[in-house]
Amino acid sequence: MIVLYFLTLMFFLLILASVGWAFVSFAPWVPTKKSDLKRILRLSDLKPDDTFYELGCGDGRVCQYINRQTKARTIGIELAFPWYLLCLIRKMLNQGKGLHFKLSSFFYINLSEASVVYIFGLPHTLGNKLTDKLKRELRPGTKIISYSFALPGLEPSLIDKPGKNYISIYVYNL
Ligand SMILES: C[S@@+](CC[C@H](N)C(=O)[O-])C[C@H]1O[C@@H](n2cnc3c(N)ncnc32)[C@H](O)[C@@H]1O
Repeated sequence: MIVLYFLTLMFFLLILASVGWAFVSFAPWVPTKKSDLKRILRLSDLKPDDTFYELGCGDGRVCQYINRQTKARTIGIELAFPWYLLCLIRKMLNQGKGLHFKLSSFFYINLSEASVVYIFGLPHTLGNKLTDKLKRELRPGTKIISYSFALPGLEPSLIDKPGKNYISIYVYNL
């Protein structure tokens, strides 16, 4: 019985640790606004044979939307276990193919297959670590879309902000 209590406690501590690590390293879970999904879709300009990566995909809503609209292969990476579980439920309910989620830090995932990388977090908290990874792994022509925050060390080719009440979306072309 004690072993069972211990294992349950360890399980919950691991869950808490994953949420805490995600929170301090990059960003807490604040989702992309639903009303901005169309803008992200338009800026991504994906074709069905493209691959979309989302770094820190939260509950998976962006990936699911992009996958449904474009049929492109869509891969969300999430570090915090509770949000990852929500992603798996989305995947189960999703009718389409090509929607994938990985439980990991995005620093452990090779991104070289990406056509578009979507980010919503606080990239400056990581210094140049994230930008260096993107520059190292992404192929020329890959698009990076950063919601709300500019990436240090990269010059955006476009800042999408249709009006003063809109959140800025930064687009980079490698
Ligand atoms: C601001 S939220 C954005 C969620 C989602 N991208 C969206 O737009 O709705 C950032 C997410 O990144 C996750 N995260 C933080 N650090 C991470 C890391 N190193 N690897 C993977 N996910 C991470 C957090 O758990 C959180 O869900």
